[in-house]
Amino acid sequence: MPKEFVKKYIDLLALHKLNTFHWHLTEDQGWRLEIRQYPKLTEVGAWRKETLVGHQSRDRSQWQFDGKPHGGFYTQEDAREIVAYGKARFVTVMPEIEMPGHAMAAIAAYPELGVTGEPLEVATRWGIFSDILNAEPSTVQFMQNVLSEVLEIFPSRYIHIGGDEADKAKWKESPRIQARIRELGLANEDELQSWFIRQMDAFLTARDRRLVGWDEILEGGLAENAVVMSWRGTKGGIAAAREGHDVVMAPESHTYLNYYQAPDRATEPIAHPGLLPLERVYAFDPIPEDLEPQFARHVLGAQAQIWTEYLKGPKNVEYQAFPRLTALAEVVWTPKDRHDYQDYLARLAAHERRLQALDVSYRPVR
Ligand code: ACM
Repeated sequence: MPKEFVKKYIDLLALHKLNTFHWHLTEDQGWRLEIRQYPKLTEVGAWRKETLVGHQSRDRSQWQFDGKPHGGFYTQEDAREIVAYGKARFVTVMPEIEMPGHAMAAIAAYPELGVTGEPLEVATRWGIFSDILNAEPSTVQFMQNVLSEVLEIFPSRYIHIGGDEADKAKWKESPRIQARIRELGLANEDELQSWFIRQMDAFLTARDRRLVGWDEILEGGLAENAVVMSWRGTKGGIAAAREGHDVVMAPESHTYLNYYQAPDRATEPIAHPGLLPLERVYAFDPIPEDLEPQFARHVLGAQAQIWTEYLKGPKNVEYQAFPRLTALAEVVWTPKDRHDYQDYLARLAAHERRLQALDVSYRPVR
């Protein structure tokens, strides 16, 4: 996404009283932030040779690729500009650097980070891949060096290290990883993931920052100071809050704006398979009923997600975000007993005119 659009998006967040921009900067399909110590992360990792067209069929023989190289990244200067732009509008920019899974772009750039050491390509399609970082001290050091540069750019107290969807198959098969698990006195691959995250937690805590991770970081034991971002429902967030950890509620069921907003896919622009109508976003309750009141203070807030696999550019992002983000903003800032969907819809009519004036490609409520 162009830097100018990132700024417009921050303006829209500020307008809706949303105070944090979670910036997912690394993935299997691209590494998007300049890291000076490791130039290949962007020379190699920011580029893929082509991209899957349309949804990914179960049948591989149906897959079509566009044959067009795609890539790009933000320089550290760009990122600093975005941080300052956010700060001026009271929006904190929280970066995410994914580990140990969803790191194929990094492994493509530096194969020694992977389990086999063999070269691989930046991913050209979506999903969960079995490629994963190894658990060598040099790899931990590498990621901490990356984080050192990230901390210089992003003053955010919260730093996201991903942690989701780390496929452990390669760890299971690798004699070297199995030896590492024994060497570290761990029971299994889940504990190895937890060990990896703890290395980052200690690193960030020593620098007066706080680690945030997706709820998979609960598996194998939660790092001491970690904040859990609960995406697979609110269960992980509830478990972490009961253990005294802070959490952010970001459940797929109510806050994944990359999903379709209407059931008829034929008349909607391509989106992530899944359905999240406006009304369901409005029904979101960031403090789940089954969380005992004494733990409610651990819910730092809630977050909506817009993964951009299927979103070619700014207009597509705006369409997925609006009006659903207005519903999210309202329900997270309004006491529950005052949530009123019909009243919201009546007010939305006026708000749609505001979005129009701001040149936002929202989905009209029909
Ligand atoms: C996620 O959607 N994998 C956090």
